[in-house]
Amino acid sequence: MTEMDNFKLTTFISEKDIQARVRAIGTALTDKYRGKDVVAVCVLKGSFMFYADLIREMDMDLACEFCGVSSYSGMSSTGEVKITLDLNSAVREKHVILIEDIVDTGLTMNFLKDHINRRKPKSITTAALLLKPHALKVKCELDHVGFEIPNDFVVGYGLDYQGYYRNLPYIAQIQSIN
Ligand code: XMP
Ligand code: MG
Repeated sequence: MTEMDNFKLTTFISEKDIQARVRAIGTALTDKYRGKDVVAVCVLKGSFMFYADLIREMDMDLACEFCGVSSYSGMSSTGEVKITLDLNSAVREKHVILIEDIVDTGLTMNFLKDHINRRKPKSITTAALLLKPHALKVKCELDHVGFEIPNDFVVGYGLDYQGYYRNLPYIAQIQSIN
C-alpha cells in the first residue's frame, strides 16, 4: 500500500499516439535544422522523457543541455517561476530548441524564452508535448505542439503528481478515490 493507491488513473493519450506525434515533430525539426549548430534544451524535470524520445527522432548532430525550473505546487501553478538549474554552456549564436513537457499558464515558457534570449542565441524554437489552451494566462507562441488538452491535471510520460507517475509510458488523468 502506498500513498498513490488512493488515486485512480485513466489513460488519456496512449503510448502509441505519443510516439507517433513525437516522431512527426522530430522529423519536422530535422528537416528544419539538419546541418545547423543546434542546442536542444531539456526543461527538467517533466520533459526528460519527451526530450529523450524527441532527440532520438532527430537524425542530425545536436548538443544537449538541461535546465530546471519550478512553478508548480501540487496541482496548480504558483505563478512564480524559479530557475533551479541553469544552463551551463553558452548558447550564443546557436539555434536553441527549447523542449517542454506542458504549457499551462504559459508563464514558464515565456520566462525561459526571455532567459535564453538574453544569451543571444541565433534563434529559439519551442516544442511542447502538451498545451492547455484554456489555461493560458499570457500570450505564448509555440512552434511545435504535440497535443492540445483540456484544463485537467495529467500525469505520466515525465509528468508527476508529488514526484510519482513520471515513469508511465502514457499520459493519464488522475482522480482521487477517497
Ligand atoms: P505554466 O503554468 O508555467 O506551467 O505554463 C508549466 C509547468 O507546470 C507544470 N504543469 C503540470 N504538471 N501535470 C503535471 O504533472 C499537469 O497537468 C501540469 N500542468 C502544468 C509542468 O511542470 C509545466 O512545465
Ligand atoms: Mg515542467
